[in-house]
Amino acid sequence: MPGSAAEQRVRAAFAEQAGWCRTLGSPLTAQLCDLMAERPWPDTAVADRLRAWSGDPRASADAVPLRLGGGLHALVRRHAVPELAACYPPHPLPAPDSMWPPLVEALGHADLAQWLDGPPQTNEVGRSSALIAGLLAFASRFPLPISLMELGASAGLNLQLDRFRFNLGERHIGDASSLLQITPEWHGAPPPAASLEIAARAGVDQDPLDPALDSDRLLAFVWADQVQRIAQLEAALTIARAHPVAIDRDNAASWLETQLSAEPTTGVSRVVMHSIAFQYFSLETQARVEAAIEQAGAEATERTPLGWLSFERDGPGRDVYLRLRTWPGGEGRLLARCHPHGASISWLDAPAH
Ligand SMILES: C[S@@+](CC[C@H](N)C(=O)[O-])C[C@H]1O[C@@H](n2cnc3c(N)ncnc32)[C@H](O)[C@@H]1O
Repeated sequence: MPGSAAEQRVRAAFAEQAGWCRTLGSPLTAQLCDLMAERPWPDTAVADRLRAWSGDPRASADAVPLRLGGGLHALVRRHAVPELAACYPPHPLPAPDSMWPPLVEALGHADLAQWLDGPPQTNEVGRSSALIAGLLAFASRFPLPISLMELGASAGLNLQLDRFRFNLGERHIGDASSLLQITPEWHGAPPPAASLEIAARAGVDQDPLDPALDSDRLLAFVWADQVQRIAQLEAALTIARAHPVAIDRDNAASWLETQLSAEPTTGVSRVVMHSIAFQYFSLETQARVEAAIEQAGAEATERTPLGWLSFERDGPGRDVYLRLRTWPGGEGRLLARCHPHGASISWLDAPAH
């Protein structure tokens, strides 16, 4: 395929993203990415932007395929591209040759280019099933009300987790009447039984989203054929709008240093949590977050305990690990291996080294 070096890099990013989408269960986005990787692009403003992309277009950097996929999904959701919409659910996925002409037409839509301006923004509430299991593990060790702090919280939807209902293997927890019922595929023993009281919740993001104002943007970045994730997100947005939690705009480390420097309340646990966020922090921010937690941990007592709950990738693989460290003591546990969106959870609860 001819084209500039930049175009070749963007095409390779689409091909790589197609593989990820196939692995993570979005045949529609995978096909869209394949088409963008393989077919000659039309002469549109969007295609010109792609041809001239100066940064790193891959998922690990500028995530250009996800920006474009989000923009196309947004156009579909607001009925701006009916022919492309006919290739999206609830309609069956057409053959690539049938999808390409409507995709070419959509690439010429005047509102699409703006989606290339910024990174994709997501808030995956499926991850809350792992996070709440981690909180149960913490609360079973320290049965106190919890002050919950989330780093890289996006719209703060996972800070609402005690307002959701979870079916975690044999363990059913949360609000049975909740609009949002989450049932991940659960493997292994159930998480520990414990009662959970979230006494306070706070979050930070360098670019926070507002569940009342940014719901269209958040929904657009969920892959269009993952209808259960979309339904879960819609339910979580409704709950968050009813129980607003302001997410502070700041760097995670600066914010956490301030939070943890405040005198802890006796009889309340503090838990710092993050999901698929740490990898996006600079190395300096990561080191400062760790140092702030270690320092606060060194001062923690049985009546002012501290937890560090992390749902993050260990390396380039697909799997994500749920880890918990607790103070006093600093003990670490590898709680679970998880699907990146929380769709399946293998409970391990093993010592971590
Ligand atoms: C992939 S999203 C995950 C959001 C949410 N934790 C979830 O699981 O759905 C990563 C989030 O981290 C935020 N982020 C990245 N670097 C940050 C930093 N240095 N300080 C604060 N937030 C940051 C991004 O703005 C983004 O909202």
